[in-house]
Amino acid sequence: MSQTFPKASFSIRPADRMTELPKQFFAALVQKVNARIAAGHDVINLGQGNPDLPTPPHIVQALKEGADNPQFHKYPPFSGFGFLKEAIAQRYREDYGVALDPETEVAVLFGGKTGLVEISQILLNPGDVCLVPDPGYPDYWSGVALSGGRMAFMPLKEENDFLPDYSALSTDDLRQAKLMFFNYPNNPTSASAPLSFYEETVEFAAKHNIVAVSDFAYGAIGFDGEKPVSFLQAEGAKETGIEIYTLSKTYNMAGWRVAFALGNAEVIRLINLMQDHYYVSLFGAVQWASAQALTGPQDNVRELVAAYEGRRNALFEELEAIGWQARRPSGSFFSWLPVPNGYTSSEFADMLLERADVMVAPGIGFGTHGEGYVRVGLLSSEDRLREAARRIGKLHLFDRG
Ligand SMILES: Cc1ncc(COP(=O)(O)O)c(C=O)c1O
Repeated sequence: MSQTFPKASFSIRPADRMTELPKQFFAALVQKVNARIAAGHDVINLGQGNPDLPTPPHIVQALKEGADNPQFHKYPPFSGFGFLKEAIAQRYREDYGVALDPETEVAVLFGGKTGLVEISQILLNPGDVCLVPDPGYPDYWSGVALSGGRMAFMPLKEENDFLPDYSALSTDDLRQAKLMFFNYPNNPTSASAPLSFYEETVEFAAKHNIVAVSDFAYGAIGFDGEKPVSFLQAEGAKETGIEIYTLSKTYNMAGWRVAFALGNAEVIRLINLMQDHYYVSLFGAVQWASAQALTGPQDNVRELVAAYEGRRNALFEELEAIGWQARRPSGSFFSWLPVPNGYTSSEFADMLLERADVMVAPGIGFGTHGEGYVRVGLLSSEDRLREAARRIGKLHLFDRG
């Protein structure tokens, strides 16, 4: 008897939510860069956001020690080890003067991205609204899409210092909104937020019963002696929302996947409940090394910020020399540069790749209000950043007169 498998009638039929997922705009870009490199070009890739420097050695050493500890070979506690939650609470106390109860106000996450996607699934029913910055980090869109929620965009405009204008939101959107995201120091605009913005946000969130989510991914990276302000420093922040803090950027630990949700105890309880169904927390040795990162010497963080600031200065010196005028970033490791007249952001990025072998990220990839800008990362050496600007200078796009 012969039967052929799979039967001709067999087909994989994905759930509708898979087709709702937003397109990965930057995947196409990576392909273009890779094709150009494969063709032998020396491309300076300033389009991506992957930290280029290694994790400090004392943290790597702690991971090695942790890997040798049989305690960490077992399942970890579902919501993470107490020592890790105490370590992040200590860091917030020291850095921001914010008190957090490690047991009820801290959830351990598999990277900030996971938390940002989970939170929409935790709080939104189909049709509920999430307020999302435009331009903004595309992963906010993914969680909203998976939950069947709807996004209402908050334009970030240069004339408002790239802060959202809550008074411009429609009554309908405000009535249906349950969740909102904001992110300072900001990806992609590199703007920072003052404490007064967070105070206004607490008031706004409380008035409209919206859970406020501060994505503090670049919380350690502020320039010119200005330390970024945490949302949790605003009075009442813990009553209205949470902050997501990742180790990816502060300690160059992007590959380790460690982050935290901090703040409102009920939201933290819901995150832990959801995660009980998905995961059994991070490898214990990773948790151990992360705790050493948070409680150990912080010189590496200061050195890292100084390195990014040096790169920013080098890049902006060259940009000035070629006549490309832009706002100097006050934090994050990005710069947000206006596109010269006559190009869309995608056309401009394509042209720079083809004619200067420099890759930048077109602003349109971050939302419609990102049009007119490109994002340039500070994730290459000062020399490479200078060279990128010089190559662009040779195209004479910004010559005056
Ligand atoms: C604005 C923003 N939020 C969150 C993240 C997520 O970081 P991770 O998932 O590595 O914690 C990133 C990473 O690039 C980011 O740029």
